[in-house]
Amino acid sequence: MYPPKPTSRFIFLALTLFLFLFLSFTVISSGATNEDEDVEGIEELIALDEEVENQEGDPHVRSSEAEVLSKAQRIVIELNQDSTKRVIDGNEYVLVLGYAPWCPRSAELMPQFAEAATDLKELGSNVLMAKIDAERYPKAASSLGIKGFPTMLLFVNGTSQAYTGGFSSKEIVIWASKKTGEPVIRIRSVIQAKEFLKKHPLFVVGLFEKFGGSEYEEFIKAATSHSELQFVETSEVDVANVLFPNVQPSYPFVGLVKSEPDRYTAFEGTFKMEDILQFLDYYKFPLVTTVTELNSVRVFSSRIKFQVYVFAEADDFKNLVEPLQNVARKFKPKVLFLYINIKDDNLAKPFLTLLGLEDPEDTVVAAFDYKISTKYLLESEPTPSKIEEFCSGLLHGTLAPFYKSQPVPDNKEGSIQTIVGKTFEDLILSSPQNILLEVHTPWCVNCEATSKKVEKLAKHFKGLDDLIFARIDASANEHPKLQINDYPTLLFYPAHDKSNPIKLSTKSSLKDLATLINKNLKMDHNTKDEL
Ligand SMILES: *[C@@H]1O[C@H](CO)[C@@H](O)[C@H](O)[C@H]1NC(C)=O
Repeated sequence: MYPPKPTSRFIFLALTLFLFLFLSFTVISSGATNEDEDVEGIEELIALDEEVENQEGDPHVRSSEAEVLSKAQRIVIELNQDSTKRVIDGNEYVLVLGYAPWCPRSAELMPQFAEAATDLKELGSNVLMAKIDAERYPKAASSLGIKGFPTMLLFVNGTSQAYTGGFSSKEIVIWASKKTGEPVIRIRSVIQAKEFLKKHPLFVVGLFEKFGGSEYEEFIKAATSHSELQFVETSEVDVANVLFPNVQPSYPFVGLVKSEPDRYTAFEGTFKMEDILQFLDYYKFPLVTTVTELNSVRVFSSRIKFQVYVFAEADDFKNLVEPLQNVARKFKPKVLFLYINIKDDNLAKPFLTLLGLEDPEDTVVAAFDYKISTKYLLESEPTPSKIEEFCSGLLHGTLAPFYKSQPVPDNKEGSIQTIVGKTFEDLILSSPQNILLEVHTPWCVNCEATSKKVEKLAKHFKGLDDLIFARIDASANEHPKLQINDYPTLLFYPAHDKSNPIKLSTKSSLKDLATLINKNLKMDHNTKDEL
């Protein structure tokens, strides 16, 4: 009754043998590939592994593996100590990626770079894509001006310029195409248009009767100067219709296509570069843009001056996104709508700190008018109708600006009153007394020493009815009449003239400060006597 054992052992052995043979074959064959590469010298491929993997088992492709190899090898060149100078000097356009094998950001960028290389090649671009292991070849890398990882540089006839595009393969393709003299892709057939659509969710399409004339030139100028959006052109209405359904069949036509509910926007201005660029800046963002590390710079530099921010947890935002898009549609393109995940500290924290909401419990809706550097906070429940009302107020200038304030404290104890944003008006500007106000922040270097001085002064002047000592934490409290940039600051508010506080030097000795306060009190009394 032992048959199963030998059988299973046999199978096990056979499998082991098979695996052994298979693995050695793989090792030997990959060894051979490496040798080939060494013989060939400089070129290495990024896409090879993937391609070979995809094609394994297909005898047709296997037989033409050499072909695949040489094609892929041409896509990204690996520079080394010897080849770097030759490659850079010998080509009009070289886009170089300096990387380090251990660097995670390099690892993220590399497949995007390889994909961009493949796409650029397909587009017939004349830019050569090269990478250099800057750790292995530090001299060659530093001769190119590569100082960190990853670094991308474009060399035009040997002179480098910094890469300023995005980091997805598509963004690399767009940037490289524009910098190497191909700002627009010409689409010649419906089939080509359909292929293009598969790869491009966001682009600008131009329909021109002929590729010439002043309107066309303005379009090309806009395409060249806009380094972020892909532009395509066609002279066929049926081609244009694939890219932008129901295109107005009147020449010339320019439209923006995006991947969102409002996909298609037609340009209706005059054909001037500046007008086309402005149109794109106003409409390129979706109804509601989710801010990420990758797009934040682009979003925050938008020329749209009214911006509404929603800070929410991802789950809460899911329910809000559609109603918010409907609100956004009504205010487009005058108001930019942004969503920031409230849990994303890097992106959300700086804004929440500006709003004095370090630890918000719920969704926060705020707005900024960047022309006048003013912020607003929606203080009611953020329902779609309240948000709409809020936006309308923002647009018409009827919202009350938001100033940070801590909760109103009870100042019953202590010789120094704590002032907050909400009490600044009443307790400082409208109070009948003279006030010495200490403006501080929790982090400022000399604030503690100044606080001690103020406490001593308060004790010294105790009992004077018309002099109040007060302090305000300017990091958590704001008032339009309190515009201070250095901390600590000591301000003396004379009772008779609250709009012109006198700045006292925090470096003065206690004695000098006391003398100054006495002098100002006396002046105030004299003024009162005169009145
Ligand atoms: C690069 O140099 C070649 C040869 O001198 C020249 O024809 C070409 O216009 C140059 N390219 C650029 C972009 O300046």
